[in-house]
Amino acid sequence: MVIAIDGPAGSGKSTIAKLLAEKLKGQDGQEFTYINSGKLYRAITLGCIRAKIDLNDSEKIIEFAKNVNISYQKDEVFLNGENVTKLLHTDEIDRFSSPLSAIVPVRHIVNDLVRFLAKEQNIVVEGRDMTTVVFPNAEHRFYLDASADSRAKRRFEQGVSNLSLQEIKDAILKRDEIDKNKVEGSLKIGEGVHYFDTSDLTIIEVYERLKENID
Ligand code: DC
Repeated sequence: MVIAIDGPAGSGKSTIAKLLAEKLKGQDGQEFTYINSGKLYRAITLGCIRAKIDLNDSEKIIEFAKNVNISYQKDEVFLNGENVTKLLHTDEIDRFSSPLSAIVPVRHIVNDLVRFLAKEQNIVVEGRDMTTVVFPNAEHRFYLDASADSRAKRRFEQGVSNLSLQEIKDAILKRDEIDKNKVEGSLKIGEGVHYFDTSDLTIIEVYERLKENID
């Protein structure tokens, strides 16, 4: 069983997807695994930065993505066997993963990996195109949204960025623009997908609304 969640950065989808995966059981009585597809784009970005690949050179990025060994286990990402999970949420990777994720062959590599993971287990998966491209037939599909101000505030309060609140908001708007205008896998509200604005809701309120829909 697949529960797919999309939405812009900071809409709360990671927190909610993780919570759903912890609390739910599938129709088969089996647990759910949480999958964050953005971490795969982030890991490829990290690998390219380390390999000193020019992040404007799509050909080199594609070659790197085809040859690197990426795996995802228990919400941890491994790049050629190294656990890189803790290195993925820097301002630099925030910035560069967005244009990198617009490269279509890179998207296909990530999509194949996510679909492979779904074959073996029940998953709650989140990203930008999980409800539209990767799992258009998922049993449950949700789109979580929030205003740019509240998303910037949430990121600021995480305390992981060196940017000011205004700089975070500007960076979020820039990423939204790229994410919504991709040739393939652009961020949009797919037909039949349940939409929730989380700007003024607590995590528990969002969780309960989604759960009502699933039950
Ligand atoms: O969800 P996130 O911010 O960790 O994602 C990192 C980048 O990857 C972000 O710029 C959007 C992109 N992304 C994507 O294009 N498609 C996905 N399914 C997930 C993330």
